[in-house]
Amino acid sequence: TIQLMNKFFLNLGKQPLANNYQKKFLKKQVKYNLKLYFNSKTKLVSISKRIPSEKMFNNKYPYKSSMSVTMKNSFKILSKEIKNKFNPNLLLEIGSNDGTLISNFKRNQVIGIEPCKNLAQITKKMKYQTYASYWNFNLAKKIKKKHKQLDLLYSANTLTHISDLSDVFKSINHVLSKNGVLIIEDPSLLECIKKNSYDQFYNEHIYLFSAISVEILLKKFDLQIFDIKNLKTHGGSLRYYIKRISNENIKISKSVKKQIHKEKKFGLDKFSIYKKFTINIKKSKSKLIKILKRLIKQKKRIIGYGATAKAVTIMNYCNIDSNIIRNFTDTTPDKINNYMPGRNIKILKYKKDILKKYDYVFLGAWNFKDEIFKKEREFIKNGGKFITHVPKPKII
Ligand code: TMP
Repeated sequence: TIQLMNKFFLNLGKQPLANNYQKKFLKKQVKYNLKLYFNSKTKLVSISKRIPSEKMFNNKYPYKSSMSVTMKNSFKILSKEIKNKFNPNLLLEIGSNDGTLISNFKRNQVIGIEPCKNLAQITKKMKYQTYASYWNFNLAKKIKKKHKQLDLLYSANTLTHISDLSDVFKSINHVLSKNGVLIIEDPSLLECIKKNSYDQFYNEHIYLFSAISVEILLKKFDLQIFDIKNLKTHGGSLRYYIKRISNENIKISKSVKKQIHKEKKFGLDKFSIYKKFTINIKKSKSKLIKILKRLIKQKKRIIGYGATAKAVTIMNYCNIDSNIIRNFTDTTPDKINNYMPGRNIKILKYKKDILKKYDYVFLGAWNFKDEIFKKEREFIKNGGKFITHVPKPKII
């Protein structure tokens, strides 16, 4: 019945798996249709195609949280806040990646969960207790058996990557103590719609949460949001502080009503806003192509900065190849010298002077614009220009 509530609003075309960087460019690659839906009952925005987790999160996952100073700082600040406000005996992080958050804690204070074996290996080597497993009920049972109940669970940019949200929250419920707190953070649907950042959508981002949809979802599990913070990370994220409904010791902050009010005022609970979004995205696509093609006519050399999964969505949706964007550059070891998934654009190792050879830089990692502009002062001083598509395609 839930299927019937799903309303289609945008097709982002044939897309490869976003993190499937390849040593050689293959003309024939497995692609799928990236289609976006709004569920009028649960208010969840999601993609229709579900790729098995094993195909996305395996022993070769390239993305590392530690690649940006912005994320490292964000996790550091949060870890201080957790210690000061909640002081948990034991913290469990679902999706601990390369340990950027947990390394701020003592080894006996945290447990990491990370299904990507190459990443789990990193925190294991650092002697942090790490379960190299997917977050599901079987694992929750195992953890409860060993560690009893947990008073703090944290998860950033992970739960929206898991198809079965019922299992996710059932499993959280199983290990969370009576007065325990769950903190989750993910890109904000409101910010995405406001910024026309359709590149938030790719095969790994199955859902894009709003406070409205998270509240509806949590109710079924005796959980509720008691505080919300707007973050700048990942182009605008929301951090949800969650408790059991039955726990009356924690007061509910005004921030919750405020955020939900803001989202409703914008229309996130109604289908019409998504139809508007679709129109904006089609415009965004043609404008970006127009800008890039004009620059190519003027013989300008363009490079992409940050070979992000987001940029994969853009390059494939807008059909941009190496005749337009010659290369990308990135600091991530597992992306360097590989091709952008689905495209014949090679990713070059980031070096201090790399931008010198180019006239324009397309911001693949627009979410780290401040950090990148700071780093590339020289290029900007010497007349180098950036191109972004957020909130609208333009040269900056
Ligand atoms: P994300 O937007 O999905 O978090 O990915 C950011 C990507 O950008 C990641 O591959 C690292 C890369 N990056 C750089 O290459 N240089 C930088 O200065 C920053 C901030 C990120």
